[in-house]
Amino acid sequence: MSAILQTENLTKRYGRGRQSRLALDSLTFHVEEGDIFGFVGPNGAGKTTVIRILATLLKPTAGEAWVGGYSIRSDTRAARRMLGYMPDFFGVYGELTVREYLDFFAGCYYIPPRERPPLIADLLELVDLGHRRDDDVDSLSRGMKQRLSLARTLIHDPQVLILDEPASGLDPRARVEIRDLLVELARMGKTVFFSTHILADVAEICTRIAIIEAGKLIAQDTLSALGLQQETPQRAITLEVLGEPAEAERILLSIPALRDVQPSPENDLPPERSRWQATFSGDDRALSALLSDLVTAGLPVVHFSEQQTSLEEIFMQLTQGIVS
Ligand SMILES: Nc1ncnc2c1ncn2[C@@H]1O[C@H](COP(=O)(O)OP(=O)(O)OP(=O)(O)O)[C@@H](O)[C@H]1O
Ligand SMILES: [Mg+2]
Repeated sequence: MSAILQTENLTKRYGRGRQSRLALDSLTFHVEEGDIFGFVGPNGAGKTTVIRILATLLKPTAGEAWVGGYSIRSDTRAARRMLGYMPDFFGVYGELTVREYLDFFAGCYYIPPRERPPLIADLLELVDLGHRRDDDVDSLSRGMKQRLSLARTLIHDPQVLILDEPASGLDPRARVEIRDLLVELARMGKTVFFSTHILADVAEICTRIAIIEAGKLIAQDTLSALGLQQETPQRAITLEVLGEPAEAERILLSIPALRDVQPSPENDLPPERSRWQATFSGDDRALSALLSDLVTAGLPVVHFSEQQTSLEEIFMQLTQGIVS
């Protein structure tokens, strides 16, 4: 096993003097070839800063990093060729269609025009967007834009993918789709490094993770070594449905996966709606299946969401285990 990504005492200070802010504090970690590596931390932890440094878009204040053995400081071009970078936001590119968008990026990587159509067709098939190839990029849903962004990341066939919160803002089904894609890419021989603040995202697919908080590394290891591979935690679900509350309750109680079904105390709802709380234990795939079970059972669902356990809470449990 060799390290395809490596950092050594990576440090980044934004600004100068009294206004300056230490965003990364001597961070050392590595990602091995073939890993699906989750880079976990709360908002402001420094994930995007690390990712932008690895992607050679930002210079560290001190320390060093290597991509495929190439220094991001002295071998910037070679390092850049090794990696595909997906930013945490989707840039707007005017009125391009999906196909034109990928063609534009293929051009940026000097892929000859005649090689582009089959390459673009393959990529669109991989991310399941073939049927939208002639639609404007702007007209895609957020989940589709994320998948298109991933396709763009792959256009020059890089060995390592560096993805900044690829699943953020997606519903459970779209999150599952992105995760399946990451697994598929790993199967194709890519190393996948991605940031997230949702632990459920890493719990199922990652071979190893690193946790950072306030620019410092808290842990890096396999999930089982970090004690994260326990049964899936309880998840709190909120639902809003139409129709008679008694009928809604009957259906909700008939679904075995849902527990502790209770009407929600707030009554800020229009008269035809009722709100319910319940608990559920299962992964995202099961959560997505739950929603379709509810609809199949005849429940007119108008809102379905999960209260995320805040990472801070999980950190409290985790760091106790790690530090003590
Ligand atoms: N351009 C900048 N100038 C000054 N400070 C910055 C800049 N970019 C980031 N920071 C600061 O660096 C720290 C780390 O930010 P970063 O964006 O890397 O965190 P993150 O883990 O990606 O957070 P999020 O989950 O919100 O995306 C934060 O305190 C942030 O305010
Ligand atoms: Mg970020």
